[in-house]
Amino acid sequence: MDRKVPAHVAIILDGNGRWAKAKGMPRSYGHMKGCANLESICDDVKELGIRYLTVYAFSTENWKRSREEVEGLMKLFRSYLKRCIKISDRNKMRVKVIGDISGFDPDIQESIHILEEHSKEYTELYFQIALNYGSRDEILRGVRRIACEAAEGALSPEAIDETVFERYLDTAGVPDPDLLIRTSGELRLSNFLLWQLAYSEFYFTEVPWPAFDRQELEKALEVYQMRDRRYGGIKEGS
Ligand code: IPE
Ligand code: IPE
Ligand code: MG
Repeated sequence: MDRKVPAHVAIILDGNGRWAKAKGMPRSYGHMKGCANLESICDDVKELGIRYLTVYAFSTENWKRSREEVEGLMKLFRSYLKRCIKISDRNKMRVKVIGDISGFDPDIQESIHILEEHSKEYTELYFQIALNYGSRDEILRGVRRIACEAAEGALSPEAIDETVFERYLDTAGVPDPDLLIRTSGELRLSNFLLWQLAYSEFYFTEVPWPAFDRQELEKALEVYQMRDRRYGGIKEGS
């Protein structure tokens, strides 16, 4: 059996609030611990030989949460984006934010640009953070750009195939995830990478994100290694 490590792992970081509640703590405590966990998972992923990591940290729908929670999350992003410079140096990790960053305050947008610029030459790990990300929004933004270019005559409609379309997504140039992990028991995608996950393996665990450690990650990789990936065909010898 091939014991291949997935090249690209995507994770829906869910369950911060419930984890904190179970401890009698406020949701903000869960977000703080979840954010700290994001730091260690980058180190683990790098050590395990995974080349691409994409995490869903804030969705286009998450603005619907209370003002207090959204403000707390913005505060956390502000400090995390600065700390992430060190994490990128430590892991020789390129960082890219996917999602509509124009929805954030200018100082957060600036921190994102600084982090992306700082890390752009690193090649050992490619880390995508989905912030104000929604897959439908990403697809529509791409389609709008395609429509503009077609209307200007710069792109011919016949030329639009899957390869061309992918260039208009936020994830342009990054291979599709091999493995999607969602923590904390929900069995849905919540508007995450709808195009890119077409052939990914899914792994759902009850473990909430702040408690998802290296051992849990290794468990997910073991399950992945037992899957029979087919992409519509059948394996030789089957
Ligand atoms: C995930 O944890 C973090 C974000 C969506 C920002 P949640 O905040 O969704 O935690 P639960 O799902 O309510 O427990
Ligand atoms: C998905 O989690 C989004 C992120 C982890 C950023 P949510 O907690 O927002 O998703 P729903 O509301 O349970 O679908
Ligand atoms: Mg949730």
